[in-house]
Amino acid sequence: MNVFLETYGCQMNEYDSELIQAILSPHGYKTTTVLEEASVVLINTCAIRENAHRKIYGRLDDLRPVKKGKMADGAPFVVAVLGCMAQNLKEALFDHPVVNLVVGPDNYKSLPRLIQQAIQTTGRPVMEAYLSEYETYSDIAPHRVAGVNAWIAVMRGCDNFCTFCVVPYTRGRERCRSPENILNEARRLAEVGYRQVTLLGQNVNSYRYEGASFADLISAVAGVPGIQRVRFTSPHPKDFPEPLLAAIAAHPHICKHIHLPAQSGSDRILSVMNRTYTRREYLALVAQIRRAIPQVSITTDMIIGFPTETETDFQDTYDLMQQAEFDNAFIFKYSEREGTIAQRQYPDDVAADIKTDRIVRLFDLQHSISRQKNQRRVGETLEVLIEGMAEKRPNAQVGKSDGNRTVLFPNTLLSPGTFVPIRITDATQNTLYGEAV
Ligand code: 5AD
Ligand code: SF4
Repeated sequence: MNVFLETYGCQMNEYDSELIQAILSPHGYKTTTVLEEASVVLINTCAIRENAHRKIYGRLDDLRPVKKGKMADGAPFVVAVLGCMAQNLKEALFDHPVVNLVVGPDNYKSLPRLIQQAIQTTGRPVMEAYLSEYETYSDIAPHRVAGVNAWIAVMRGCDNFCTFCVVPYTRGRERCRSPENILNEARRLAEVGYRQVTLLGQNVNSYRYEGASFADLISAVAGVPGIQRVRFTSPHPKDFPEPLLAAIAAHPHICKHIHLPAQSGSDRILSVMNRTYTRREYLALVAQIRRAIPQVSITTDMIIGFPTETETDFQDTYDLMQQAEFDNAFIFKYSEREGTIAQRQYPDDVAADIKTDRIVRLFDLQHSISRQKNQRRVGETLEVLIEGMAEKRPNAQVGKSDGNRTVLFPNTLLSPGTFVPIRITDATQNTLYGEAV
């Protein structure tokens, strides 16, 4: 049977889709990129903001004529919603006429059985969506997509309960894989030619396994022969103890890039978000990171328009972004999520036009900071890991610097996975341009 698998959302979902392919392939399922050839359509979904939901409902609407055609032919056809939306909405998803299977992120091992069940019950809904305190899929080797980077999920779930966030409900409690199991995976990856691994977790730096901390884990992975770059995402500012910063600073294979989601610069908003740090503590951490790792790139996530956010709160966020001078920032309008603490406690009371005005002001600020920071790189030579040919520029290659900046340069004829020193000659807010030295 042919399976069409589509992935939305974060890197963890991409990784999960690789696990899903590994779970299905021994049962005779083959993946296809042609929707019309598929008997099983799997949509791995995201629930983080309302627009993610909207996109997926739009996609389900697109599947109506396909399903109608298949039914007219009498062919088996299953449309499954997987991932965070499955866990979050459960049987409510069956209100959409094309959906006949719903499977949560901790239940993928049951997929072969559930798909068969959905086929045999001809269209009657089938669901498995219960969270596990143990499932880490550590016994499954994902079917990785070709490329220079491989994801390794080292932990799953989140126990932080930031009040805006649906993740603790869709991904359940934190659980970690053993260092030995993770290191074996990293060694296998190095053997088949991967040069970069990215350690993944909803709350990756809260990793702990018996005596081993995240600092121990990342140092050990960086020591695997053949692995030349180690990245990690997504961390929480509360889990950056001194030894972790020292490990990042000391190990040449650990990328000098720290994603440090601030979410707000207002103490009052940080407190109602349950972020567990103040703006002073956050800025002190930024300063400490820059002292420990002088070449570091720091990026962030911000939410504007959280319930009760005033212009003064917003000014605090603006000011924090001016002070921190992030290399890049992902800025989102607050989106109310069903079942979260914020949704239960506070009405979504910042007007849409105010949210738009605030996000535009922050985008403008960050764009000018990113541009200035990138322009300061002109004249430097950066070690770039080649990813492939550039999409929008003829005869150019694209790669990433250690600090995770996108670098474009004339074709070197070197293959993806090769490191090349590039002298930077020009820069925009998102991209560095250069030539091979
Ligand atoms: N509304 C807007 N943004 C959100 N994020 C998480 N939940 C919400 C929400 N309800 C953002 C946070 C997080 C990133 C992955 O998504 O900034 O760090
Ligand atoms: Fe959501 Fe906060 Fe957990 Fe990140 S740390 S997944 S924002 S609850």
